[in-house]
Amino acid sequence: MTKVSPSILSADFANLERDLNLIRQSGADYVHVDVMDGLFVPNISIGVPVVQAVRRVTDMPLDVHLMIDRPIRYVEAFCKAGADILTVHLEADTPENTRQALLNIRAMGVRPAICIKPRTPAEAVLPFLELCSLCLVMTVEPGFGGQKFMADMMPKVRTIRQYIEDNHLDCELEVDGGVGVETAPICKESGANVLVAGSAFFKSADKSNFVAELQA
Ligand code: DX5
Ligand code: ZN
Repeated sequence: MTKVSPSILSADFANLERDLNLIRQSGADYVHVDVMDGLFVPNISIGVPVVQAVRRVTDMPLDVHLMIDRPIRYVEAFCKAGADILTVHLEADTPENTRQALLNIRAMGVRPAICIKPRTPAEAVLPFLELCSLCLVMTVEPGFGGQKFMADMMPKVRTIRQYIEDNHLDCELEVDGGVGVETAPICKESGANVLVAGSAFFKSADKSNFVAELQA
């Protein structure tokens, strides 16, 4: 079954506990937490204290997406704050540091994950997948919720899925950006098994229905 990871970037930050409960009641699988530093992406969202606070009020797995420059500096802090999956961007540092960041995450007992932006080819991420528990393919330019889904990312998802199968890797494949009821089918067909949904989740009137449709 496909998993759904609603993004709290589209939640009401003044009512985060209420919105986390909506996520839990919807039957979703993960909670997606978008961390932005205003450098790696042109937006600032939330940081370590908010992840700690979220951790206190939900026992759902926290799927933390770091859109920050040189994430190796902070992976330990986010693991301690309560991440269950911790994702770093391939573009955010040297290959050596990215590799080391993934190893550091695993050493903390957290699931390491890697993410690529739309202009980064699948081939660039393949050598890292054996170190990862999840690979995230951006289907919008990272930085903001509510953008249009980039269907031209689907060949990349297919290539990565093929590589995961060919090499028998224990690695989930997630897509993030513009995912909703209309775009979920092509993501699943292309091989994604985890779907992030921010604005589409929070806009949907019947969240259980929305999640069930994406999971089907
Ligand atoms: C964008 C974030 C996404 C965002 C998705 O940089 O990584 O997780 O919340 O929002 P939607 O689903 O609205 O595109
Ligand atoms: Zn995200």
